[in-house]
Amino acid sequence: MKTWLNKSALSKGAVTALASISIFTLAACSGGTAPTASDGAAGSATDAITVYNAQHDTLTQAWADAFTKETGIKVTLRQGDDSELSNQIVQEGAKSPADVFLTENSPAMTQVENAGLFADTSAKIQEQVPAEYRPSTNKWTGIAARSTVFAYDKTKLTEAQLPKSIMDLADPAWKGRWAASPSGADFQAIVSAMLELKGEAATLSWLESMKENSKAYKGNSTAMKAVNAGEVEGAVIYHYYWFGDQAKTGENSKNVALEYFKSQDPGAFVSISGGGVLASSKHQDNAQKFLEFITGKAGQTVLQTGTSFEYPVASDVAPNAKLTPLSELQAPKIDPAKLNSAKVTELMTQAGLL
Ligand SMILES: [Fe+2]
Repeated sequence: MKTWLNKSALSKGAVTALASISIFTLAACSGGTAPTASDGAAGSATDAITVYNAQHDTLTQAWADAFTKETGIKVTLRQGDDSELSNQIVQEGAKSPADVFLTENSPAMTQVENAGLFADTSAKIQEQVPAEYRPSTNKWTGIAARSTVFAYDKTKLTEAQLPKSIMDLADPAWKGRWAASPSGADFQAIVSAMLELKGEAATLSWLESMKENSKAYKGNSTAMKAVNAGEVEGAVIYHYYWFGDQAKTGENSKNVALEYFKSQDPGAFVSISGGGVLASSKHQDNAQKFLEFITGKAGQTVLQTGTSFEYPVASDVAPNAKLTPLSELQAPKIDPAKLNSAKVTELMTQAGLL
């Protein structure tokens, strides 16, 4: 489902007058409420930057509002999902109106990088972001991180009954008992990690078992709700859907607990959300400034204190205290540049999941 938003078209109010709209729905990610629009007090239209945003809209809106408040530079968001926007950028090439591209997962960044469309990130960005959270090419940078989890029905499963590895879900014993959102970029990033760690044959075989064993839902929130409602016993999703729901009413997660696979398992994959400046951007300085802001103390603190429950990756900002620290997740070490989204789509199509 497309969720395009040209925020500048909505920006008419005063600084504090936030206009909200309610016509948007999110398919792959239920990041929360509808986007808001706001104007900075300073900055002219020619300074404004356009961000193609595949991150959760509420998170990027919080970053954009804080950035505009600090710099006066206006930010226009265009909302879509990872591959939708990366395909769009590649198709638009040098004519793309995008100054910055933000994603939920890195395969879409790699696609744009491989098309030669990113400028180098600034020295400040490279200074703020540890090497493990950005590609060595420095054509984009990590801006946040998220962990794969098995969200399970704690009223039905004991810890001893949980799969030890995501690979175990291929076992016929799990038939009809677990769920995922195979059409979403989040799940496809997890598969890309499996492909990198286990190879093509093992991944295809796992995907074929998944087609047999699992129930497909549209969106991670929907998959988690299905667990909570007792439709399935577990779901492979990212961690923040559970924390986000718990922070609200908990009504969609009250029966749900999280298992972190750890042990460098493919199911312990920590996905890096990316940000990059388009080489064709006419606002290079402001675009770099926006990424510097996001990866700086203020931007990363939005992750710590806001409602996204994603992990900060830069400027030594600690995660929200409710989260298990990244350092304890025993995630597999994977070079984000090696995540191959095209091959994932091919294998998932072959397995009948797409
Ligand atoms: Fe998501």
